[in-house]
Order: sequence, then C-alpha cells, then structure tokens
Amino acid sequence: MPPILNGKRIILGVSGGIACYKSVMLASRLTQANAQVDVIMTEAATKFVAPVTFQAITQRAVSTDTFESWTDTGRLRSGHITLAHAADLFIVAPATAQTLARLALGMGDELLSLTALSYKGPMLIAPAMETNMWGHPATQQHVETLRSWGVDFVGPASGRLASGEHGAGRMVEPDEIFEHACRVLGRGGPLTGVRVVITAGGTREPIDPVRFMGNHSTGKMGVALARAARDLGAETVLIHAPLSVTPPGGVTLVPIRTAQQMHDAVMEHLPTTDVLIGSAAVADYRPIHSEEKKIKKLPGQQTIILERTPDILKAVGERRHDDPLHPRLVVGFAAETDDLEENALGKLERKNMDMIVLNDVTAPDSGFAVDTNRVIIFERDGNREDWPLMSKEEVAQAILQRVAARLGRQNWARR
Ligand code: C5P
Repeated sequence: MPPILNGKRIILGVSGGIACYKSVMLASRLTQANAQVDVIMTEAATKFVAPVTFQAITQRAVSTDTFESWTDTGRLRSGHITLAHAADLFIVAPATAQTLARLALGMGDELLSLTALSYKGPMLIAPAMETNMWGHPATQQHVETLRSWGVDFVGPASGRLASGEHGAGRMVEPDEIFEHACRVLGRGGPLTGVRVVITAGGTREPIDPVRFMGNHSTGKMGVALARAARDLGAETVLIHAPLSVTPPGGVTLVPIRTAQQMHDAVMEHLPTTDVLIGSAAVADYRPIHSEEKKIKKLPGQQTIILERTPDILKAVGERRHDDPLHPRLVVGFAAETDDLEENALGKLERKNMDMIVLNDVTAPDSGFAVDTNRVIIFERDGNREDWPLMSKEEVAQAILQRVAARLGRQNWARR
C-alpha cells in the first residue's frame, strides 16, 4: 500500500450521477490504504447509492445534511467546518455539471459545496456527465475557473455513457482516481522539482512479424519505483517495454519495445533528467535481421545470428565522465545468478553509476514475477547495505528515500 495515504484524512464528495457506484470502489481502496475517508453525498447521489453502502465501506458516518451536527474529538462542531479543516485532500467523484457549477461559483446551498468553501487544501475532481453537458461552455468555463485556482482534474474519459451513446463524459475508473490522489498528496514532497526517469519491463527484439526474443521481466519493480518517486513529489517519467502489470497513473509514460528504442528514449530525456533509475531487463542481443515475413517451419535446424544491443546505462555513464551532473544520480540493478557481489560491483564501476541494487534471481522469493525482493545496495562511496525480504513496493520506497537522502532532501519539509 502506498504510505502516502496512511493516516490521511480524505473527504470524498459524491454527487448525483450513475458513476456513484464506482465511487464505492474508490472509497474502499482509499480505506484499505489506511486513509480515513469521510463521504459527503449530495441529495441526488443518495438516489443512486444508499449512504449506508459508503458507511459500511469506510466505517465512518456519511454526511448528507448541512444541518446535522458532527461530533469529532469529543466536541460538537458544525460538520462542514470540522471536516474541511481536518482534511488533507478533497476528492469529488463523480462531479456532475451541477456540482462543478456550485464549486466554481462558490455556492454553499448544500453540504458538499458548503464544505468545499471552507476547505483550503488540494482538491481532485473526477467529472462524469453526458457529452453535451461536458462540452457546454458553462461547464468548460467552470472547469477553467477551478483549474485556475489549482484544482486538479482527472478525466473525464471517452467511452460508452449511461445514455448508451459514446463520447466524452465517462468518469475515469476508481483505480485511476486513486493513483491521482497519491500524486496530488505527494506534491511538495522531498523530490519536488526533481525529474526522475525510470526504465522498466523486458525489451522485445523482433525475429519476424510475429515472434520476438524476450525475457521474464514483468515490470513490477519499475512500476513500483515510478509510484514511489511520484508519491515523493518527483516529476516522473517511465520509459517502459510491454508490462504485465498496470502502469501507474500521474506519471509520464513512454512506451517502447526494443532495447534500441529504450536507448533512444533515455537519451532524448537525458538533458532534463536529474535521476535515472535503470530497472529494465534490457536485451543484450538482438537478431541481426528481423525477417519481413513470418519464418516458415523447415526440416532441420534454424540459426538466428545475434548482435549486441546498446548498453543504455553504460552509454549514460560514459557521457557522465564529461558532464557528471547529467544526470545527478544514476541507479542500476543487477539481477545475478552467481558471483553476486563481484558482478554487481563490476557493473557499478563500469557503468559509472552511483548505486546498484543487487538481487539474486535464483532465490525463490526474489527476482522475476514474484512480489518480493531481497536486495543488497552498493554505493559508489563503498557503502553496502543488506536489506531484509521486502515487497517490491517497500524496496522501491526505500530506494527513493535513499535517492532523496543522496540529493540532500531527507529533511525536506513538506510545503
Ligand atoms: O549488464 P547488466 O545487463 O547485468 O546490467 C544491468 C543494469 O544495466 C540494469 O540496471 C539494466 O537496466 C541496465 N542495462 C542497460 N542496457 C543494457 C543492459 C542493461 O541499461 N543493454
């Protein structure tokens, strides 16, 4: 679970659209991540989903009425003020055209907009409405107004709407709102203003139009690193080969397939990269030719001649000899089966990295396609640390904390 949500107080404003049922999932995910979720529903929302549903999911009272009192910390105070002053994040999902208008006009004629008026923190809005309502100049003007105040939007997506028509106006999926909630909460964290570029996944080198040479990498580690960087406030770019896990929201995704494409994308981003983390399993060899037509079965053996691919981190390391600040920090991975330490230290030196994360891929709980990793960290200054068995998320968070510390950001005060 992302630690950024742990103990956070979140107001989830739910207004009256059919997408309300998806907000139940959002409330559930936020609650499971240890956030304290206070749901406020407009009257129209209660026609779609009963308040008791949210109440059961969040284990918290659900507010629907401006004139109800709210008891918190033992003192009776007006509900909207208590909630608004204590919250770290205000999410509105779904936000109907009506609710957007209320928020943009600063109205306080019902509890959701009234609470928003007395709230000063970050706000994330997931609109949901029929296509023409979304495109209406009034709605667009309200969105513009809210954006100019620093309100974040996620969606709407295009797709099938409740009316049966297709178009813009669908609320994005709860998982995506969840990801953006982490991003918004992470803003102002220790990696604020730092651009972190991460490579992930296993590259695919084409043999013919239907076949490729690949490896067992799922991209789990790289995706976890991207989330961890984002949640510490970094501007995060994920250059990724095909992944078997969902890519993170709130980061810039650069999809590629081959080692050469990954190399070119990394080089293109290099002038603006502060921290480069190479967690991709990059093919070391590729077929000299990718056949234009599918290779047919023939009797006997087939030979595919291979050539070397570019070593991305090595190329970056060479450039750093002339310009050590681009990037300021390079972190690599060594997935090894034998002579673990010797191999890792050799790579650290050869590729001119600052830190290398070694994992023994023959250990059953470490490496490809599992959720855990047991790693050893080697740093250029001779520092070595053996970390215990952790989830890939925990390893990623610890690596990014280490990155922040190396950049002198460990005592960074959140703005
Ligand atoms: O040399 P080896 O492939 O074991 O090095 C592993 C590290 O180098 C990883 O961080 C990996 O992402 C990176 N690498 C690379 N380009 C390659 C091969 C590996 O950037 N062609």
